[in-house]
Amino acid sequence: MKTTVRPMVARDKPTIMDMLRAIREFTSEEVAVAEELIDAYLEDASSSGYLVFVAEVNSVVTGYVCYGPTPLTKGTWDVYWVAVDPGGQGQGVGRALMAFAEGKIKESQGRLVIVETSGRPDYDKTRRFYTSLGYKVAARIVGFYSPGDDKLILEKHLAQTRGAKRPFARS
Ligand SMILES: CC(C)(COP(=O)(O)OP(=O)(O)OC[C@H]1O[C@@H](n2cnc3c(N)ncnc32)[C@H](O)[C@@H]1OP(=O)(O)O)[C@@H](O)C(=O)NCCC(=O)NCCS
Repeated sequence: MKTTVRPMVARDKPTIMDMLRAIREFTSEEVAVAEELIDAYLEDASSSGYLVFVAEVNSVVTGYVCYGPTPLTKGTWDVYWVAVDPGGQGQGVGRALMAFAEGKIKESQGRLVIVETSGRPDYDKTRRFYTSLGYKVAARIVGFYSPGDDKLILEKHLAQTRGAKRPFARS
C-alpha cells in the first residue's frame, strides 16, 4: 500500500464530502462546518488560515487533514479535522496525515499542536488514535457539546528540528 500526501485541490472536494458524510461519528452540522473550512481554503489558501492536505492510497483519495496556525499565538497550531474513509481506516492513513501535518508545522517553527475532540463513547477509537500519536489530555470541559458530551482539549508539544524556516511562519 502506497500512501502519499499532497495539497487538496478543487477536484478532490466531491470525494472528501462523500467521505465526511459516510463517517458515522460526524453529524450533518459538523460536516457543514468541515465544508466551510475546505471552501475557505480552496477559495484563497493563503488568507484562509487553513491548510488542507489529502492522502492518496494507491492514487485514491482516502483521507484529509485540515489545520492551521492558531490566531494570536506564537507557534501554536490547531488541527481542525482529520478524517479517513471508513473503508480505509486502521491502515495507517490517519497516522500518515498527522505525521505530515506535524512535520509541516515544525518546519514553520510551530511548537504546540492542539486538537479538540469529544468525550463520547463513540469517539473512543479517535481518542486512542491521538493518544498513540503522543497527544495528552490538557483539559476536559464537562457537558460542552451537550449534556453528557464533554469537550477534550488534547495537546502535543513538538520537539524542534534543525533547519526550521521562518519563526512562527503562517504557512
Ligand atoms: C480517527 C481517524 C482519523 C484515524 O485514522 P486511521 O487511518 O483510521 O488510523 P491509523 O490506521 O493511522 O491508526 C493510527 C493509530 O491509531 C490507533 N487506532 C486507529 N484505529 C484504531 C482502532 N480501531 N482501535 C484502536 N486503536 C486504533 C492505533 O494506535 C493506531 O496505531 P497502529 O497503527 O500502530 O496500531 C479515522 O479513524 C477517522 O476518520 N475516524 C472518524 C473521524 C474522526 O473521528 N476524526 C477525528 C476527529 S476530527
